[in-house]
Amino acid sequence: MILRLLCTVGLGLIFLAMTQAAGVKKSAFGKTKAGEPVDLYVLTNANGMEVAITNYGGRVVSLKVPDRTGKFADVVLGFDNFDGYLGNDPYFGALVGRYANRIANGRFTLDGHEYHLAQNDGKNSLHGGLKGFDKRVWRAKDASANGVPAIQLAYLSADGEEGYPGTLTVTVTYTLTAKNELRIDYLATTDKPTVLNLSNHSYFNLAGEGHGDILSHLATIYADRFTPVDATLIPTGELASVAGTPLDFRTETAVGAHINADNEQIELGRGYDHNFVLNRTGGGLYMAARIVEPSSGRVMEVLTTQPGLQFYTGNFLDGTIHGKGGKVYGRRSAFCMETQHFPDSPNKPQFPSVVLNPGRRFTSTTVYRFATSN
Ligand code: GAL
Repeated sequence: MILRLLCTVGLGLIFLAMTQAAGVKKSAFGKTKAGEPVDLYVLTNANGMEVAITNYGGRVVSLKVPDRTGKFADVVLGFDNFDGYLGNDPYFGALVGRYANRIANGRFTLDGHEYHLAQNDGKNSLHGGLKGFDKRVWRAKDASANGVPAIQLAYLSADGEEGYPGTLTVTVTYTLTAKNELRIDYLATTDKPTVLNLSNHSYFNLAGEGHGDILSHLATIYADRFTPVDATLIPTGELASVAGTPLDFRTETAVGAHINADNEQIELGRGYDHNFVLNRTGGGLYMAARIVEPSSGRVMEVLTTQPGLQFYTGNFLDGTIHGKGGKVYGRRSAFCMETQHFPDSPNKPQFPSVVLNPGRRFTSTTVYRFATSN
């Protein structure tokens, strides 16, 4: 009798421990140069998968995902300590905005007014300018519901900030679902017409961050077309077919198979650094890409409501950054799959519009879903 009671209590405790594992834990992460405190939020789901996010730039700091044997590894590049993000940092894990990717010559015209942005990438404007959303402190709150861990980040971008018109109210919700998905929901409103392109700039290596290059990952990108670029990585405006080019990932292909091909676009991109025009399959979330790391069996699927995907193979990483545990992040040691509107859309009327008007709500969702294969 007593034994049975003890067993029941024991099982109950184990069950409680398992179900209680899911949640959000907040801790201090550091202080900005201006002395603003910054926190780290660790979201854990019922399967033990874990994502750490800071409200500095809404950055994904770590993402622990199981391999085919159940062994967890951190699959995103970044730093152990907050100060790393204040130094030489190529947008590790960041929310990028107001305009993800490039705007040609740091200039665009909206309703007859010409707006001027910081030219922080040669003559172009990159990822929102000198102090984009990646370098702002966001307000954060626990947004968990029904035992599913989530945090909501909010930022109010002043009219004229980094040269962009309109007061922009942005909220981004990160949810770690029980299906091992990191879901990102974006919402924005404005009080004046403006342009907007929001993305997340996580650098993935599914073998684990710091585990060599990503050339043996097998990628599928559901895109028949891409936007070719000029020498400064600004789209020419054309939507070109991927057929017969190194950008054809319609069937599973090793990332390294054609990354050094004798091809103008590959040379201009120094590898892959291109916006793919996703094949939409109706409205809502659709599959953008799937990528498999053969040795660990980790698989990542990218689903989105956005029209484009920037596939960037870490070509600018050059070994000068020492990341977590002092690991050297060399060239092509990670890849990014940034869901987005097309680069330079404010200057390309033929591209899907990025204009947000007062009274309208911008919404978008991207899901990074993790699984394993044999
Ligand atoms: C990517 C972009 C690259 C590079 C990188 C940051 O989004 O496509 O060209 O700028 O960000 O180093």
